[in-house]
Amino acid sequence: MMEVMTDVAVPTYVRNKEFKAWLNEVVELCKPNDVRFCDGSQEEYDELCELMVRTGTFKRLNPAKRPNSFLAWSDPSDVARVEDRTFICSRRKQDAGPTNNWVDPREMKQTLTRLYDGSMRGRTLYVVPFSMGPLGSPISQIGIELTDSPYVVVNMKIMTRMGRKVWDILGEDGEFVKCLHSLGAPLAEGQKDVPWPCNPKEKYIVHFPEERLIWSYGSGYGGNALLGKKCFALRIASVMARDEGWLAEHMLIMGVESPDGEKTYVAAAFPSACGKTNFAMLIPPKELSQWKVTTIGDDIAWIKPDEKGELRAINPEAGFFGVAPGTSYATNPNMMEAIKSNTIFTNVALTPDGDVWWEGMDGEPPAECLDWQGQKWTPQIAKETGRTAAHPNARFTVPATQCPVIDKDWENPKGVPISAFIFGGRRANHVPLVYQAFNWNFGVYLAATIGSEMTAAAFGKIGQVRRDPFAMLPFCGYHMGDYFNHWLQIGRLLPNPPRIFGVNWFRKDESGKFIWPGYGENMRVLKWIIDRVRGKTSAIESPLGWMPRYEDIDLRGLNLTKDQFNKLMEVDREAWKQEILSHEELFEKLYDRLPKEFILMRELILSSLWRSPEKWELIHERYVVEAK
Ligand code: GTP
Ligand code: SPV
Ligand code: MN
Repeated sequence: MMEVMTDVAVPTYVRNKEFKAWLNEVVELCKPNDVRFCDGSQEEYDELCELMVRTGTFKRLNPAKRPNSFLAWSDPSDVARVEDRTFICSRRKQDAGPTNNWVDPREMKQTLTRLYDGSMRGRTLYVVPFSMGPLGSPISQIGIELTDSPYVVVNMKIMTRMGRKVWDILGEDGEFVKCLHSLGAPLAEGQKDVPWPCNPKEKYIVHFPEERLIWSYGSGYGGNALLGKKCFALRIASVMARDEGWLAEHMLIMGVESPDGEKTYVAAAFPSACGKTNFAMLIPPKELSQWKVTTIGDDIAWIKPDEKGELRAINPEAGFFGVAPGTSYATNPNMMEAIKSNTIFTNVALTPDGDVWWEGMDGEPPAECLDWQGQKWTPQIAKETGRTAAHPNARFTVPATQCPVIDKDWENPKGVPISAFIFGGRRANHVPLVYQAFNWNFGVYLAATIGSEMTAAAFGKIGQVRRDPFAMLPFCGYHMGDYFNHWLQIGRLLPNPPRIFGVNWFRKDESGKFIWPGYGENMRVLKWIIDRVRGKTSAIESPLGWMPRYEDIDLRGLNLTKDQFNKLMEVDREAWKQEILSHEELFEKLYDRLPKEFILMRELILSSLWRSPEKWELIHERYVVEAK
């Protein structure tokens, strides 16, 4: 008989009563072999990595190439977030809203209690105390994850502030978010484990917002399992933020220093795998080398108005869980430097010399390597079968401190003041390179109606355009209509709200090639944005907002003709009418809680699309953004 634990020995420094009761319940239900309290130390991290090397979850990379770094290959069923298995189980269905999956919380708890029963048999339950945000900052929040995955523990060590000190902050009665995670892969006595345990059949990522409770089952990958990230810092935190008057957003935060030393902070929301990490640490092209970009965060922002009515943002995370494919010295040199050591790679390829490789890395592909499923891969095999060496959603986990351009204030407990919000998506057609909303309300409308082609970051139809309001469609823990109202309300409270911009790096020409070079060159657009915020550059009015002319953007040294620029900025009247009309699809769903302003703004944009020809040069039924 395998031993089943009942009353758990808790270290004396763990005094929180609610935690102790919860732990006992979980242990009784999940029946782990063992319970281990994690202290977040380097020794513990090293030991768990070593353990995973022995069990086959990790391969240690060649220390001469990539010191202290490891590679994990997941089960092929467990490679991305599972949006159709993600639930917001608020007490009332209408509070989750029509864009979230909902099940009655009692029913969901019954279903999951059956699945959790004995789900940790043969495994160790790890207790992971963590802080989202600098320890003790007034904006920070505490969570405790109970997980049966050592892979999760070591990733949480990088992604959060994890460790002993959290217990002191919690004390006896402190509040925390309960995060329960099980791989759903119990081991019978003597059963040999697999390198990537998970439940290939059943997965549940469940949130009980009123209880500040997360139950995740069946997956060991990324946002499904590192519960501090999307589950807590976005889905649960967005509910806290609504209740308390702040914002929890899927946004990068960056500092931009102009040649005269003026520093501006901006936050930008792009959907998953649409360029946040790259933008957050871009290196300006040489013509703009007097500008400096520094990174505060690459994925999540918690933003609160301060006593002066300025919005202050912190990055609640402590690491980057970034998309590997496409990362190179040509696209993101800062990240290539960051991941030289102390990095966990998941689902990238392994080269014969014990290093990693992925599509889009600099130089020639290796003559041969092992792909993310451990199979032989060569460029020839790729050509014949279309197989990629790395999974398109392969990722690295790396401490933020390893980023060469991490901002000096990235851990400032007060946060940094935000002067602009940027929203973008991945759109091959119709959406211009950059445009500025007329005011806060129009900006909220712009953000609410962003469309983007779906990427490999979630299971789904890749390439299909969907509305992804604020890049938060998969991450908002409550009714999206209420979320829009919350944003409008925040704007009403600010004496001088940040300016709001839309961008699209992904417009393509007839041959399917990106017209805009992207990456570091995005600095040219960012410069226009900063100059607009500072009142230093001009723009012309369009039905969509303010837009730069060719001469308003610094394009020195870039081989971009005026024709190409016009293509990037072109607003096709018919296509935009269709685009605006298609907002109806989302609005209809949210109708009962949709802000009244939205209906009016939509009409206003539509009518200006119809009536603005005299302001615009009409070429082949198209408005080209160009001054007369
Ligand atoms: P999540 O971590 O999923 O939230 O994604 P993210 O928004 O941080 O996306 P990331 O910066 O990792 O970029 C995802 C993919 O888009 C990578 O393959 C990048 O190479 C590519 N990408 C990023 N920026 C640009 C750009 O400016 N232009 C083009 N064409 N591709 C880009
Ligand atoms: C995203 O999908 O937006 C991510 C990766 O940042 S994950 O943490 O898996 O959600
Ligand atoms: Mn993300």
